Amino acid sequence: MVKVPAGVGPRYPQVVILVGATGDLARRKLLPGLFHLANSGFIPGCRIIGMSLDDMDVEAFRAVARQALDEFSTRKTTDDEWRAFAASLDYVPLSAGPEVLKAAAERAERSFNGECRRLHYLSVPPNAALPVVRMLGEANLIERSRIIMEKPFGIDLASSVSLNSKLHEVFDEEQIFRIDHFLGKEPAQNILAFRFANGLFEPIWNRNFIDHVQIDVPETLGLGKRAGFYEQTGAFRDMVVTHLFQILAFMAMEPPTSLEPIPISEEKNKVFRSMLPIQPSDVVRGQYTGYRAEEGVSPESETETFIALKCSIDNWRWAGVPFYLRTGKRLGEGQRIISIAFREPPKSMFPAGSGVGAQGPDHLTFDLADAAKMSLSFYGKRPGPGMRLDKASMQFSMHETGLLGDVLEAYERLILDAMRGDRTLFTTAEGIERLWQVSTPLLEAPPPVRFYAPGSWGPNAIHQLVAPRAWRLPFERAWRDPNR
Ligand code: BG6
Repeated sequence: MVKVPAGVGPRYPQVVILVGATGDLARRKLLPGLFHLANSGFIPGCRIIGMSLDDMDVEAFRAVARQALDEFSTRKTTDDEWRAFAASLDYVPLSAGPEVLKAAAERAERSFNGECRRLHYLSVPPNAALPVVRMLGEANLIERSRIIMEKPFGIDLASSVSLNSKLHEVFDEEQIFRIDHFLGKEPAQNILAFRFANGLFEPIWNRNFIDHVQIDVPETLGLGKRAGFYEQTGAFRDMVVTHLFQILAFMAMEPPTSLEPIPISEEKNKVFRSMLPIQPSDVVRGQYTGYRAEEGVSPESETETFIALKCSIDNWRWAGVPFYLRTGKRLGEGQRIISIAFREPPKSMFPAGSGVGAQGPDHLTFDLADAAKMSLSFYGKRPGPGMRLDKASMQFSMHETGLLGDVLEAYERLILDAMRGDRTLFTTAEGIERLWQVSTPLLEAPPPVRFYAPGSWGPNAIHQLVAPRAWRLPFERAWRDPNR
């Protein structure tokens, strides 16, 4: 069992009401994550009430949970551990209504013999969220509770304002945790450490030294069983308004006055306020060939499965520095990188043909995988006579620290933070509404989707978007293998 340092977990036992408990996210991440948190002693006590549209009993739900652990948990489950977890599970179908839920919650709370807290986790599609919120209100489960909401938080400015105001009729803003799991990834938080714990990089973190930034999250995955959700959502709402813009804020924000939720949100919101509205002419929307033939997809679908865009932050630090964002399904490789390209030197004394500048500018690259990596590339002299230059790099890999086993999966980290009431890594209503506002020109006049072949890097127009610059991915030189 992992040794849990004091103070990282919540003070009180938790009753978790997991709505959408049989869905994809619950099976892949939430049930395995809750199991790990409960089993490793992060939480002083935990009971989980699953809810979903499926009419099943608690035994059937336990079978779903067991299968989810077997299939998706990265850690092995012993029989004893499973028995303890299974005993903490209960199930109430959504059709049973608030009274039955209330009774189940009371039973769970009584089992703790003392003070406890409630955590509602809504892993449901956007149109199902408000009815569930109302049901929680009717079941009288608002007191002593926090609620984690899954994205997308609305589909545009008007719907997000309306969602937030209806939510506030039931929950106070302090109780609402809008989750963006990219912010729970260790390497995303490491951006803050890297920027603000070192005197070396922060002085060059601005328009005088940085030429442009790329946030690139290609996926090889298709849609699996999510076509219904995805048809309504598309790559921009699924990935950019949430994950990529949040990462951009960590990259671009000013130093917060402290690492507390309010100062951090304030600096992130300032970045969002400085963002210029996204112009359709700065966007390439793509759809992989074959998407329209998939089950649950309209044969005339205009939903984008790929998006690349240029985004500008019009403030003192970043004016004139383009941020290029790209993500999509069924692309050539699965990667999550941030790449910072530095300006080239003002003059070169190296002879023609020496190779200086031939392999692009110096780069700082972050890999946002759980096994995080970082690299700084630069030109150096190739050994031998004369002056020939080659690109070299210094690389850091989390593998080499021996601490990889301590990494909490993003959802685990964020669930634990919500249980502790720590909002540092969660997004605010104001921030989200501003992001929808800057997205309005694009949402109102989206450019037509262009087709791309599965396994490629998107439609050809992506190259014009960044010209005369070039996309970092696919990498010219792969990461060094940390095992060698
Ligand atoms: C989810 C999106 O939020 O993030 C998915 O809905 C996407 O479409 C996923 O595949 C990517 O997350 P990760 O952690 O696997 O990079």
